[in-house]
Amino acid sequence: MNAKPLKTVIIVPTYNEKSNIAALVDALQEQFLQLEHDMHILVVDDNSPDGTADVVRTLQTSHPNLQLLNGQKQGLGVAYIRGMRHAMQELQADVVFEMDADFSHKPEDVPRLLAAIDEGADFVIGSRYVPGGTIPEEWGLYRRLNSRFGNIVARYLAGIYSVRDCTAGFRAIRTSVLRRIDFDKLRVQGYAFQVALLHAAKTNKAKIVEIPVNFIDRTHGESKLGLRDIIEFILNAWWIRFDSSKTFIKFLIVGASGVVVNLGAFTLLLAQGLNKYAASPIAIELSIITNFFLNNGWTFRWRKTKDRMRTRGIKFNAVSLLSLGLSYSTFVLLSVLLPEYPPQLHQFAGIVPATLANYFLNSYWTFKHVEDTPS
Ligand code: GDD
Ligand code: MN
Repeated sequence: MNAKPLKTVIIVPTYNEKSNIAALVDALQEQFLQLEHDMHILVVDDNSPDGTADVVRTLQTSHPNLQLLNGQKQGLGVAYIRGMRHAMQELQADVVFEMDADFSHKPEDVPRLLAAIDEGADFVIGSRYVPGGTIPEEWGLYRRLNSRFGNIVARYLAGIYSVRDCTAGFRAIRTSVLRRIDFDKLRVQGYAFQVALLHAAKTNKAKIVEIPVNFIDRTHGESKLGLRDIIEFILNAWWIRFDSSKTFIKFLIVGASGVVVNLGAFTLLLAQGLNKYAASPIAIELSIITNFFLNNGWTFRWRKTKDRMRTRGIKFNAVSLLSLGLSYSTFVLLSVLLPEYPPQLHQFAGIVPATLANYFLNSYWTFKHVEDTPS
């Protein structure tokens, strides 16, 4: 055990968590009994209409280590930033936790995450996607895919490959790491904060450790994750990628030229009277070909590949085929699901998954740099 107890602040953001917060505070206090660290709870409430803050104020009379911060609702990320600043500046915390109020994160897991800090980690993630970690069995396909997709976007688009659960909201972080991070530069308000902070920590060479946890579905109240959060999440991942990779910037520029080729050819072919289901794959294939030449001669020009030109060509064709399939199936799917929209929109939507698959397979396979390590 540590010689010096660490001042640890569990930050719990709340929005309408009246039915959870009291039980959570009790459960945390019970865990604190077995810890030798100096444990505190900081509830960051955004004027919850259900009166969560009143419950916390009442609890404060019997829990001297419980603090409350009030604010306007601007999103989960804004709440966490406010909480972390307060924990660092006012409370002089050594360690902060991120934790949900809804019992999705088990209070019993707090000691395990803190133990990893004791063992030298800077940034400990309560992870659902390492062996031993789980997501709720009752989660439907949509939530499973949503969570998986979020992690794929974070790992492969934002570039946090080494972490399995990038979106986890249960984490223990040394404030020595947080003090090196400029929160203003994170540019996030909602749930995208989790990925933005993780990326910033990784950039600052924090020692990141994942500890398996079982994520429990909430029984009281409801999730606050909205469409706005999903959009910000994806934009943020693109931003991180854009900001940290010149290669990817070039790839995006090439991709944009491909969009022009794709939509232009599609429109021309439609004007020629061609059936839209035939025009779509032809237009896609044309843009893939122009993309290849630009990527080969410009984007990945600096890469030292182990393959000869011929092998690269074959690989590129294989990737193209997959992209074409992805793009075309998106087109067909949307044409069937949303027939009231113009076919150009369906065609455009097909570009997104195809571009991503194209980039990653070509970057890490076709044009793989011989000393390339994913980082
Ligand atoms: N103060 C404040 N302001 N709190 C908020 C806000 C907000 O705008 N939005 C959400 N919260 C609080 C909730 O009250 C809850 O305590 C916690 O943040 C998590 O919110 P949920 O709405 O329960 O999130 P979730 O279950 O959908 O998402 C969880 O899993 C995600 C990954 O799958 C969270 O752990 C996320 O952080 C995580 O990214
Ligand atoms: Mn939840």
